[in-house]
Amino acid sequence: MKKYFLPLIYSLAIISGCGRTDEVNLLADRAFALAKTQYAQMDEALGDGQFPKSTDSEGNLVTSDAGWWCSGFYPGALWYIYEYTGDMTFRELAWKHTRRLAVLKDRDTDHDIGFQINCSYGNGMRLTGDSTDAALYVECARILAGRFTEETGVTKSWNFLRNDWHYPVIIDNMMNLEILTKAAESSGDSSLKDIAVRHARTTLNNHFREDWSCWHLVDYDPETGAVRSKETVQGYTDESSWARGQAWALYGYTMMYRETGMEEFLEAARNIGNMIMDRLPEDGIPYWDFDDPAIPEALKDASAGAIMASAFIELSTLTGDNRYMETARRQLLTLGSDKYLAKPGENAGFLLKHGVGNIPGGTEIDVPLSYADYYFLEALVRYSIISSEE
Ligand code: GLY
Repeated sequence: MKKYFLPLIYSLAIISGCGRTDEVNLLADRAFALAKTQYAQMDEALGDGQFPKSTDSEGNLVTSDAGWWCSGFYPGALWYIYEYTGDMTFRELAWKHTRRLAVLKDRDTDHDIGFQINCSYGNGMRLTGDSTDAALYVECARILAGRFTEETGVTKSWNFLRNDWHYPVIIDNMMNLEILTKAAESSGDSSLKDIAVRHARTTLNNHFREDWSCWHLVDYDPETGAVRSKETVQGYTDESSWARGQAWALYGYTMMYRETGMEEFLEAARNIGNMIMDRLPEDGIPYWDFDDPAIPEALKDASAGAIMASAFIELSTLTGDNRYMETARRQLLTLGSDKYLAKPGENAGFLLKHGVGNIPGGTEIDVPLSYADYYFLEALVRYSIISSEE
């Protein structure tokens, strides 16, 4: 199994801008130059403890506090800017915003602590080797592990209950397993990894349809572990395929194969990836829900496209199957076009336009989203590392 998450920061800084002619490499140079300008501008706009979230209807920056599920993406994107450019200013900025998330060690309301802490502290520790916050990282992983029960075999996504839920688990939760596997490795506590494996297996059994599309939410009986319902929160209908859910599933199972080497997760990732590739439109960016009857007039979701691109690059590396890489290239080149990629000074400091947060909830529709930028930059870093090895 090939691992490429090594601190290749110096080589990346050296290869960037050195006359590489591959279109995606050229896009990476352009996107990271833009990211430096935009993300420095955002730092100036942010108050203490605020994190970029999206824009309002006038195009102004909307922020959140540390508790919002997306708070780790801005520091995480700063880490990718540092990784790609080697610019120490961004390393300092990344630590500044990362360490503002330390307050999360006292919070246990949802599964999102994995996103929040792994994208920020996880990348910081990976790139700098600085272990000052290693204990905090493990402490946060234990918060997520505390949401697991033997009866259900999964970690609970949300404490709030609606629609008669008893123990709701969303497909997005697959993304949060990485903090468990990484904390198991650094702390030597293998029970954290066991929980990640159990969660991924239970989800594999209950979240997927025959065609490898997935339900957004499965509700469990907390006493028996029986499935009570399968439904959507952010998709078109309970039976439709919400594009970002498919993206989380693809990324989550690819990551779990990387972390465990277990073939069942690789097979799942391949099947999900094949389903996605069969149903993507020509430009590679999915409509917000694969089953919205308004297609081709329906909105596309740049965030789902970026998450898929990053996952497809990793899946291609792990399998040697070039179809996944070709799909990722197509997605990245579309995201790098004028339609999606902002010009300097535009888009309230974000990079990508046209993300879809939550259409049924009436929020964040056709806007920039911090996670679209994060996975776009991650995909470009992953692509550049692979190119530099060829
Ligand atoms: N985890 C929430 C979302 O993907 O919108």
